[in-house]
Amino acid sequence: MTNKEILLRLFEVLKPYKFKLIIAIFAMIFVAAFTGAQAYLVKDLLDKIFMEKNTNYLKAMPLVVLGVFFLKGVFYYVYSMLLEMVGQSVIRDFRTAIFNHIHKQSLSFFNDMPTGTLISRVISDVSLLQQAVSNALVKCVRDFFQVVILLGVVFFMNWRLAMITFIVLPLAAYPIVKFGRLFRKLSTATQEEVANVTNTLHETITGNRIVKAFTKEKYEGERFKKQVFGLFSLTMKDARYRCLQHPMMECIGGFAIALIIWFGGLEVINGTATPGTFFAFLTALIAAYEPIKGVTRINSTIQQGLAAAARVFSLLDVEPEIQDKKGASALKPFESSIEFRGLNYQYNDEAVVLKDINLTIPAGQALAIVGPSGGGKTTLTNLIPRFLDVKKGAILIDGTDIRDVTVESLRTQIAMVTQQTILFNDTIRNNIAYSDQNASAERINEAAKAAHILEFIEGLPQGFDTIIGEGGARLSGGQRQRISIARAILKDAPILILDEATSALDTESERAVQKALENLMKNRTTFVIAHRLSTIKNADRIVVVKAGRIVEEGTHNSLIALGGEYETLYNMQYK
Ligand SMILES: Nc1ncnc2c1ncn2[C@@H]1O[C@H](COP(=O)(O)OP(=O)(O)OP(=O)(O)O)[C@@H](O)[C@H]1O
Ligand SMILES: [Mg+2]
Repeated sequence: MTNKEILLRLFEVLKPYKFKLIIAIFAMIFVAAFTGAQAYLVKDLLDKIFMEKNTNYLKAMPLVVLGVFFLKGVFYYVYSMLLEMVGQSVIRDFRTAIFNHIHKQSLSFFNDMPTGTLISRVISDVSLLQQAVSNALVKCVRDFFQVVILLGVVFFMNWRLAMITFIVLPLAAYPIVKFGRLFRKLSTATQEEVANVTNTLHETITGNRIVKAFTKEKYEGERFKKQVFGLFSLTMKDARYRCLQHPMMECIGGFAIALIIWFGGLEVINGTATPGTFFAFLTALIAAYEPIKGVTRINSTIQQGLAAAARVFSLLDVEPEIQDKKGASALKPFESSIEFRGLNYQYNDEAVVLKDINLTIPAGQALAIVGPSGGGKTTLTNLIPRFLDVKKGAILIDGTDIRDVTVESLRTQIAMVTQQTILFNDTIRNNIAYSDQNASAERINEAAKAAHILEFIEGLPQGFDTIIGEGGARLSGGQRQRISIARAILKDAPILILDEATSALDTESERAVQKALENLMKNRTTFVIAHRLSTIKNADRIVVVKAGRIVEEGTHNSLIALGGEYETLYNMQYK
């Protein structure tokens, strides 16, 4: 992305705040004008009071000085508050936009984007961007006016001397441009490293049990140290240029002052300029140079902000792989059947994971999917709620291709218990009632009861209000699974997907939960994946998925009679 494109898009983002920005710009112009006036006052101070000893001026001058400083302060307050407000609003807007955008993405997006990278986009890139917007860009605008006004004063007072600025300005511009490119490059590298650091933090903190179990604290510590040291050396490189810029600019400024003392001094000695003009001129020039120096100080911030903006925009430009077609209608309440038609799926460009799946499940049926690990069972069920989209073939619900209806209407008709239990760090109540935050206590109770977790919850000192820790860390594996079953039960959707939903339960609770699930399955269409064949013996139909294909299909009895893959699996478990 070029700077121009980035700036255009930033302006787009700033549009809602244009009114505030315009007021801020006017306030900045006033501040700049009063700064110009301050310089101009020096001339009268010297010429009228010190040289002419004019008492009227003596009386008026302190009041004028007070007035100028006060008004400058007022306008300063106005613009800096407005800009702070706009900057913080931009942060807020960006963060919510990125959050919503991320959650529109399909599963494959998250497979490619590590959590830490996404977190650093939302937190650190957006802050960098804000600093650039509210400090840097703004300083540029204000300083631009200040420089223009002060240079106006300079030229008005003595245009010959003012020509010196034409020598100094290009000299000053050179390091700004040159270093700008370096800052930009460094910022990109720095943010990549920040993302790495965030990733390591995230993984090792959430995975701390494994780090401990394998006593890898030292190893992880070294890995983290390497990243932090990498970050350090990048930051130091940036600092080296940043710190070098200031003395360089000072020297260029000193050079300008030397020239002015020489030529200005000559003019005063020759009588073509008054001492007042000379000092006012010098004051104005020093004041004008200050913001130019300031640009170099914020140059690094600007470049970092632009690089961050480029990253944020490119994230926002990732089209969600799965989204509603134009004019997609809502899926009607599920009635008759779900059909997989000539379905194929592959992740990225890798080997085909599902091949030619043809299957029709009438409403109300319970379909069990069994087969060896890695066969494609989870992938198959992830296609139904469109977490992934089929690559070839189609899934039809009541004859309608699921890609033709809105994603939301499709997903509201599906309740799911995923293979990896995912719970939020919230109360048990809110976890169970995730599909409907307004669910009555009675419904929550019933769902918990059906999932055989009610007794446990009631035994807790805080009952349903117990906070379960990150990912349900304060619960046992089986308790977590039962809460996620209760959550699916409460959703009360016509299509139910259970991916190893009872794998963490002991035989007794599994049998009990199984019973509850059987009740639940009665008027629902269910996909049950299980390795323990006892859980699926009673399914209406069983398919065996192996290496992405359906290799056998039938009821428990017919498959045993067939004496194939299923029988082998069954014998292994029960003989
Ligand atoms: N995000 C992914 N990217 C690339 N390949 C993947 C991805 N997820 C799964 N796979 C591959 O797809 C194949 C099928 O995986 P899937 O999770 O559907 O198997 P499964 O039948 O559910 O296995 P299990 O019984 O172990 O849960 C596997 O070979 C796996 O390596
Ligand atoms: Mg699986």
